[in-house]
Amino acid sequence: MTTPAFTPRVFSGIQPSGGLTLGNYLGALRRFVQMQDEDYQTVYCMVDMHAITVWQDPADLRRNTRELAAGFLASGIDPEKSILINQSQVPEHAQLAWIFNCVARMGWMGRMTQWKDKAGKNAEAASLGLFAYPALMAADILIYHATHVPVGEDQKQHLELTRDIAMKFNHDYKVDFFPVTEPVIEGAATRVMSLRDGSKKMSKSDPSDASRINMTDDADTIAKKIRKAKTDPDALPSEAAGLDGRPEARNLVNIYAALNDQSVEEALRDVGGRQFGEFKPMLADLAVAKLSPISTEMARLMQEPEEIDRILARGAAQAREITVPILEQAYEIVGMVR
Ligand code: TYM
Repeated sequence: MTTPAFTPRVFSGIQPSGGLTLGNYLGALRRFVQMQDEDYQTVYCMVDMHAITVWQDPADLRRNTRELAAGFLASGIDPEKSILINQSQVPEHAQLAWIFNCVARMGWMGRMTQWKDKAGKNAEAASLGLFAYPALMAADILIYHATHVPVGEDQKQHLELTRDIAMKFNHDYKVDFFPVTEPVIEGAATRVMSLRDGSKKMSKSDPSDASRINMTDDADTIAKKIRKAKTDPDALPSEAAGLDGRPEARNLVNIYAALNDQSVEEALRDVGGRQFGEFKPMLADLAVAKLSPISTEMARLMQEPEEIDRILARGAAQAREITVPILEQAYEIVGMVR
């Protein structure tokens, strides 16, 4: 439950640890754009400090951060409506994260499925930052007293932890200082799956480039990846229940519906009964029509890195008008002499 006293404010972030994928776009970014026209103040972030929890080549990180900023802008994030920042340029995120490292319990962190997946069998060799990752994420959100966080399905557990951290802080210090944040996980594509394996999430870290659509892919590449996407031999059903047990078919229909701003039921009214040989070209045309204006604009913006840097510097200054006073109050509550 969100305490009504908090200003409705949205925060969300994306890691600059590789290119943007269609999963990021449909699961998160597109929703970010819509929310800037709803009744919220909106803050969106490139989380470069989260990215370095696993090794990043410095030149790649710098490039990927600017490219991600270009992706936000090209998708419709308007710096006049939203505050757009790079995490490391707003130091209060890291400062609050330290307090949260002292609030969160080892047991909570150890139960995070993303930690278990990423650390794998060799947790001893994982960075301490990877383990503490969700505490920094809680700080990203709560340093703005954000009330709503639009994300894809895979971030749900991290947002539950954010709520636990806010509640424990409020309880331990006997305050009502941090809001208990609401996740916003909505739409047909909150979990876009790999094009090669319907049981795996589409991810920028998958070694197979054919498994994902990158926001920078050109029209031919997008069409080729969709043509080669794994499917089954049956025609598409006309009702959503007919997608049960058909993960690849479900994934392609979800993508089609999301790109078309439709529900899955509406999409199946148009495409139900068709064979994949007919459906895939329809999906490819739709994907190209929706994505190529974005990739063209990203390429144009990447020619003007100074403009991107100016937008981020301005965003950081606007963000700090919110974060500096909240950090000061948090330090006061904790008992730090100022
Ligand atoms: P990241 O960079 O992995 O992903 C960014 C956003 O994209 C969504 N997403 C997907 N949605 C649907 N299908 C997919 N295949 C898919 N892949 C990714 C993610 O759910 C996410 O919303 N920890 C976060 C970044 C972060 C953050 C935050 C998010 C840091 N601080 C504070 C919200 C609030 C992450 O790694 O996202």
